Amino acid sequence: MLNQINLTEIDTSQAPPEEETKRQYYFIAKCRESVAKLQKEAGRPLTFHVQTFGCQMNARDSEKLVAILEEIGYQQTEEEIADFVLYNTCTVRENANQKVYGHLGYLKGEKKKNPYMMIGLCGCMMQETKVVEKIRESYSFVDLVFGTHNIFKFAELLYSRLQSSSMIIDIWDGTEQIVENLPSERKFPFKTGVNIMYGCNNFCSYCIVPYVRGRERSREPKAILREVEQLVKDGVVEVMLLGQNVNSYGKTLPTPMTFAQLLREVEQVEGLKRIRFMTSHPKDLSDELIEVMASSKKICKHFHLPLQSGSSRLLQDMNRHDTKEQYLALVEKLRTAMPDLSITTDIIVGYPGETEEDFEETMDVVRKVEYDSAFTFVYSQRSGTPAAKMEQVPEEVVKERFNRLLTEVNEISKRRTGRLEGTVQEVLVESINAQDASFVTGRLENSTQVHFKGTEEEIGTFRKVYLKEAKGFYYLGEEVAE
Ligand code: 5AD
Ligand code: SF4
Repeated sequence: MLNQINLTEIDTSQAPPEEETKRQYYFIAKCRESVAKLQKEAGRPLTFHVQTFGCQMNARDSEKLVAILEEIGYQQTEEEIADFVLYNTCTVRENANQKVYGHLGYLKGEKKKNPYMMIGLCGCMMQETKVVEKIRESYSFVDLVFGTHNIFKFAELLYSRLQSSSMIIDIWDGTEQIVENLPSERKFPFKTGVNIMYGCNNFCSYCIVPYVRGRERSREPKAILREVEQLVKDGVVEVMLLGQNVNSYGKTLPTPMTFAQLLREVEQVEGLKRIRFMTSHPKDLSDELIEVMASSKKICKHFHLPLQSGSSRLLQDMNRHDTKEQYLALVEKLRTAMPDLSITTDIIVGYPGETEEDFEETMDVVRKVEYDSAFTFVYSQRSGTPAAKMEQVPEEVVKERFNRLLTEVNEISKRRTGRLEGTVQEVLVESINAQDASFVTGRLENSTQVHFKGTEEEIGTFRKVYLKEAKGFYYLGEEVAE
């Protein structure tokens, strides 16, 4: 764990410090005292479970929440029923919200059986006023509710809850603050996400993210580099630089800087082997970035480039600021610079007003680009976004189009994935295979999974693997001697 302040040196009898990082460590120390008391009373260790919904950004936030809970003295468990259950929620589509309500319904009965049990909710869904109202009214057994802008205050809020018996709700409308140097944990010891920016300024007409994550804020490059260096010292070989639109990184910094410049600097970190990034908006993708990527030894030759729709008319309506032709030209440019580049995408089916012709334009782009894989989504109406007020496409029509798209995408991606069959590639081993413990599972530079005979000691290391057989979306391989 990366930990900047020694908890035992904090004098908890004093008033809390003003400076935010110190303040949060102070509250971690306070919570630690309270939880130690509770454990003594219960006569057993208290456990916690953090469940993440949604994107990589949430996954990274959860790693930070886990680290704080561990510092506080709770023990992590894989079991959902724990003494502290925290759901880090997503609201990008309605089904993500429904899942959370489902989980809460299940916890209600469990909480009655365990006097030490507490339930916390955080993340994007909590930034919606209607959601918080519903929780207050129908899920009054929830203990703690906070949002995306004050996630750094988790320890302080938890302490408030430990001191009182009523639900604590703290939701901010926005923030300019980026609090550095809080504790941080990793799900995998050898790879992790690194936030480079927060929020989004694009306001695509279907998307709730700018409303729940706020305006774009970039982290200072020095803070990012310090974090990456520290991570590498701690055993990390692969980082994923995270932001809603990494291509506009640095525009709002006191000394502006481009994403390509940041990549150049991250590349210099000795010991770091692989760099990934997510997500890119096509409208901001620069030639400089393509150049840096093409000449880099560490940046994975994988580009996630959301399409959303292949219809220029719908792209305009979506406020995407690009056209089908511009998108295809960009793909061409990327492939010319990096012929073996893997391209993946996000596509929405059933955006309001989508006609059969619009949908065919999407299918056309899918066939032309030949994505390695594509995340396909049924359009979901998000209240407060401009598209929610427009006339919706009938459900049966959307379903039928969605299935057609999925069939096409799967067929293409099977073919694309198979193109490396018979070659030897470098694989970063990630885990023991879930089905057969004599196998390990790892990933290629383009993120495709490879399974091959191996042992636990290989986890976190790079192996040369012969890709013997392409099995649709993954490979079966054989390790070759160095
Ligand atoms: N409905 C369906 N998909 C959506 N996305 C964002 N908002 C919506 C919505 N309202 C998709 C976009 C984005 C991805 C993260 O989620 O494709 O790129
Ligand atoms: Fe949403 Fe568009 Fe911002 Fe992506 S770029 S988070 S789709 S508003």
